[in-house]
Amino acid sequence: MFNSISSQASKLVKLTNSVKKNYSKTKILTITSGKGGVGKSTITANIAFLLSRRGFNVAVLDADIGLANMQVLFDVKPQNSFFEYIDGVRTLDEVITKTNYSNISLIAGKSGFQYTLNKNSFVFSRVVKELVALNKFDILLIDTGAGLNDYVKEFLSISDNILAITTTDPSALTDVYSLIKMLSMEKSKLMLSFNHTKSYQIGETISNSLVNLGKKNRLKEDFMVEYIGNISTSETISTTGRLRKLFVNEFSTDEITRQLQNIVDRILVNIH
Ligand SMILES: Nc1ncnc2c1ncn2[C@@H]1O[C@H](COP(=O)(O)OP(=O)(O)OP(=O)(O)O)[C@@H](O)[C@H]1O
Ligand SMILES: [Mg+2]
Repeated sequence: MFNSISSQASKLVKLTNSVKKNYSKTKILTITSGKGGVGKSTITANIAFLLSRRGFNVAVLDADIGLANMQVLFDVKPQNSFFEYIDGVRTLDEVITKTNYSNISLIAGKSGFQYTLNKNSFVFSRVVKELVALNKFDILLIDTGAGLNDYVKEFLSISDNILAITTTDPSALTDVYSLIKMLSMEKSKLMLSFNHTKSYQIGETISNSLVNLGKKNRLKEDFMVEYIGNISTSETISTTGRLRKLFVNEFSTDEITRQLQNIVDRILVNIH
C-alpha cells in the first residue's frame, strides 16, 4: 500500500516537473549572420535595451563560443560564465549576471578558449532549455558567433525565432543565403535585417532578390523570409561601442535608434 502511494506520488512529482518545464513565459530569439563582423552583438545588446525599456525582463546569452564579448558591450565583469554551469561547479543562478541596465541579465560566455563539442551531448541546448524552464525572463536573446559551425547549428536548432543580420556585401549575402538554405529544411521562418544599409528600401529589394533566388533553386516553398528593417552605418554606433555604451540609450532620438525601434516592433509581432 505504502509502495503504491509513494509510486503514485513520484509519478505526480514527475508530471508536475514536466509541466513546469513545458510551460514557460520565456521566448527565445536567436541572432545569427553567417558572415562575421556584421554587427550581431552590437545589435543584440541594443535590442536588449529597447526590449527592457518596453517592460520586458530580458536575458542575453553570449553564444559566441570562444570569442565571447557581450560583457564588453554591457560593460560588466561577470564572475562566472555558463561553462562553469556546464562543468557543474556553479548553479544556473550563479552564472546569471545582472548588468547595469535594469531588466537586462547576461549569461556570459568565455573568451580565448576552445570547447570540444561532443556531438551527442547537446550541452548548449540543455543550458537554453534550463534558462527557459526558470520561467524568469520574458525574452532570451542568443547572440551566436559567426559561421555555420556545429555550435551555431545547435543554438539555431533549439530556437524557432531566428533573426539573421547581414550587410549588402556580396560575401555576407552569400553566407546569409547558405543560412536560408539550411534553415529552410527545418524551420518555417527567418527574420532578416540589413546592417550598414542606409535605406529601408535597399534592404527590402535585396531581401526580395534572396527570396527569388530561393524560389529559383526550389527551396521549400512554405519557408518564409521576412525582412524586418535596416540600420545605417553610423559613427555613433562604433564610438558608443568603443566606450562600452549602448547607442540606443545614449542617442535615444537619433535616426539609427528609430531604425532599431522599428526592427524591435517587427520582432515583437513575429516572436512566439
Ligand atoms: N551600423 C553600424 N555603423 C557603424 N559601425 C557599426 C555598425 N554596426 C556595427 N558596427 C561596428 O562593427 C564592429 C563589429 O560589430 P559586432 O562585434 O557587433 O559584429 P558581430 O557580427 O557580432 O561580429 P562577430 O561575428 O565577430 O561576432 C564593431 O566595432 C561595431 O561597433
Ligand atoms: Mg559578435
